[in-house]
Amino acid sequence: MQTLHVDLGDRSYPIYIGQGLIGQPELLLKHITGKQVLVVTNETVASLYLAQIRQSLQGLHYSEVILPDGEQHKTLNVLARIYDQLLKDKHNRTTTLIALGGGVVGDMTGYAAASYQRGVNFIQVPTTLLSQVDSSVGGKTGVNHPLGKNMIGAFHQPQCVIADTSTLASLPDRELSAGIAEVIKYGLICDAEFYDWLECNASSMLARDQAALSEAVYRSCQNKAEVVAQDEKESGIRAILNLGHTFGHAIETAQGYGNWLHGEAVAAGMMLAIKLSAQLGWIPQAEVARLAQLLQAVKLPIAPPAMTQRQFLELMMVDKKVLDGQLRLVLLESVGKAIITANITTEDVKKVLADAGVQA
Ligand code: NAD
Ligand code: GLY
Repeated sequence: MQTLHVDLGDRSYPIYIGQGLIGQPELLLKHITGKQVLVVTNETVASLYLAQIRQSLQGLHYSEVILPDGEQHKTLNVLARIYDQLLKDKHNRTTTLIALGGGVVGDMTGYAAASYQRGVNFIQVPTTLLSQVDSSVGGKTGVNHPLGKNMIGAFHQPQCVIADTSTLASLPDRELSAGIAEVIKYGLICDAEFYDWLECNASSMLARDQAALSEAVYRSCQNKAEVVAQDEKESGIRAILNLGHTFGHAIETAQGYGNWLHGEAVAAGMMLAIKLSAQLGWIPQAEVARLAQLLQAVKLPIAPPAMTQRQFLELMMVDKKVLDGQLRLVLLESVGKAIITANITTEDVKKVLADAGVQA
């Protein structure tokens, strides 16, 4: 097992990465301070891993909530089921919520923990590649609104993250690829050496080679932890973690939550971001082709779906990086160096969309 730390003063916590960690009760138990626990998972993950977690928590006042599976259920309505169970089973402020699942379960459980009785503890047990490399770390929690992705939420850090890489064995191929999109993101925004490594190891990751996947999870979490430690609540640098996400969130919202996976939308969004960076003359065109090749090698889309430029622009203005009506985007100065800029016009965005085949 490898351990990383997210350094946030009294909100610091460890990230445990390794095989078979769900079967090690002591990892969970040492981060549970009270006598009550509530496990949140979904129908798919429950049938795979809930029994092991339940077994680890014997002797505690135990509750569980099994949510429907899917991004379309990441809503305030479905979130209420967690509060209902907590209240029904009389959980108090010393309770600990445990998120067992992918980013949807993690974000919803985290938000329930942030808001139940004004804040209780929670633990992340991520079971998708995407959640192990990104969503379980950093304390962003929340749900979607029909008009905008992740628009309702809170920053609330977990007590620890337990990333059991053996759970990736049961992940569908499409979900594995979606997770690799966020892994590639770290190479692009802050770790050029890792980007080179990813180019060499794309096929090993797709073949679920444990060493390659563990390295990808470790390097991703290391990069994320460093960024989050500098800017927990995204007043500056943390926004670089959103490379491709302004375009990507527009795609997810327009297509209907769950139709394009988050990682797929991020992949197409990163292509638009790198093309815009090249269009502005910041990076060589050759880097655009290089990213396209890597994304295709891991079976991710490189072009947006059928949408209009108008749809893109409208949805992009709902992004959380928009300040005083000004669109701000994460773009690349080079591979390994992202910047956040407001120095782009609507015409620049329209041009990159038009060049990618998006109709007016
Ligand atoms: P997900 O949670 O929907 O999981 C993907 C699918 O895999 C689901 O069907 C799930 O049931 C299934 N699954 C989970 N673990 C499995 C396993 N081990 N074996 C088999 N199937 C398994 O999606 P995701 O990609 O994990 O997360 C996407 C969500 O994360 C989005 O809502 C996105 O907004 C959010 N996100 C949040 C952050 C953050 O910082 N909080 C960062 C990135 C993404
Ligand atoms: N996934 C973006 C962030 O955590 O800030």
